[in-house]
Amino acid sequence: MTDQITPIDAESTIGEWMRHPAGVRIIAGMAAQGGISDSALRLARNVPLSRFLSAGGPLPDGMIDHLVSQANGGEAPDDVAHTSWTEVVTRGRFDGQTVIVTGAASGIGRAVASRIAREGGRVVAVDLSEDRLAEFAASIPEAEIVPVAGDITSDESIRRIVDAAGARIDGLANVAGLLDDFSPIHEVSDETLERVFNVNVFGLIKLTRAVVPFMIDQKQGSIVNIASEAALRGSSAGLAYTASKNAVVGITKNTAYMYERYNIRINAVAPGGTLTGMRPGAVSAFGQARLDEHIADAPLALPEALAASITFLLSRDGININGAVLPSDGGESVY
Ligand SMILES: NC(=O)c1ccc[n+]([C@@H]2O[C@H](COP(=O)([O-])OP(=O)(O)OC[C@H]3O[C@@H](n4cnc5c(N)ncnc54)[C@H](O)[C@@H]3O)[C@@H](O)[C@H]2O)c1
Repeated sequence: MTDQITPIDAESTIGEWMRHPAGVRIIAGMAAQGGISDSALRLARNVPLSRFLSAGGPLPDGMIDHLVSQANGGEAPDDVAHTSWTEVVTRGRFDGQTVIVTGAASGIGRAVASRIAREGGRVVAVDLSEDRLAEFAASIPEAEIVPVAGDITSDESIRRIVDAAGARIDGLANVAGLLDDFSPIHEVSDETLERVFNVNVFGLIKLTRAVVPFMIDQKQGSIVNIASEAALRGSSAGLAYTASKNAVVGITKNTAYMYERYNIRINAVAPGGTLTGMRPGAVSAFGQARLDEHIADAPLALPEALAASITFLLSRDGININGAVLPSDGGESVY
């Protein structure tokens, strides 16, 4: 053991900053200012500082450089060793394939669409937000990305999505989804039930119903539905979201069974906490108080980590997996 202090930088994780004698003071000061609890910081232990800070929106110019210099005695360090996970692109894994990805303008959907596009796939990128889709497509100019601004609950949008895909659809990642307001059954409104089920369940079914006939004709296809920890336990969200994600599991199992003879695989991924734009808005005080009693101390993931699990199941390497529900949650499902 030596007393030497290891330098840290913007790509060092919150955990590494918290273990650093100067870093811990900087993070503690920022957390106190921003009202971030110690437990929230602990959950972010595997997230690089730059990603953690930028999750709240654009940062003032030079802010991160200033923090890094402050932590390293006024200097910008070079050759900082990082132990955190980084994405490794497998060139050509989706060559020649057309894959539809919903929710592609943000969070997990964007990370999935980006990974497939950079691995050679033609991506039909679907989202409500035209501007954010255009910005995403422009961020990988060398890739083949077909943006489709639309709503998966609308029949007209579904027609445009399938038209944009063309004659062949090799994969579908049903990622678009909404959180509820944490209300339990004695409080849940019709509006919340309809809003959440329309997107998480009916939109997913409608788009899949339009895509499966292509896969039956081709006798080949892979579909990944995004469920949630809420499909594995009762303590993750409110009634509407929990019921909707359990429905996603049922859709996955039934569809996997129905089309096995056509060489179509359908699986689900159940993400744990992931650093994305998904927020609940105004919440039920009753529901929030009860959920706060059980916050599993599993690390928050980057959306790219979820994309690694989802693209594995979508890809040919998922060959022997059908009807599975894969927790991708840093182990939260066994806590
Ligand atoms: N972030 C988490 O911690 C977490 C945990 C478990 C499960 N999930 C699930 O992961 C999926 C992706 O969530 P995220 O965290 O990336 O959220 P996000 O809010 O960052 O992205 C969701 C995207 O879906 C789009 N969308 C919403 N409704 C749509 C519709 N009707 N038609 C087309 N696009 C629509 C939104 O515009 C948004 O861009 C969701 O199904 C969510 O339930 C997320």
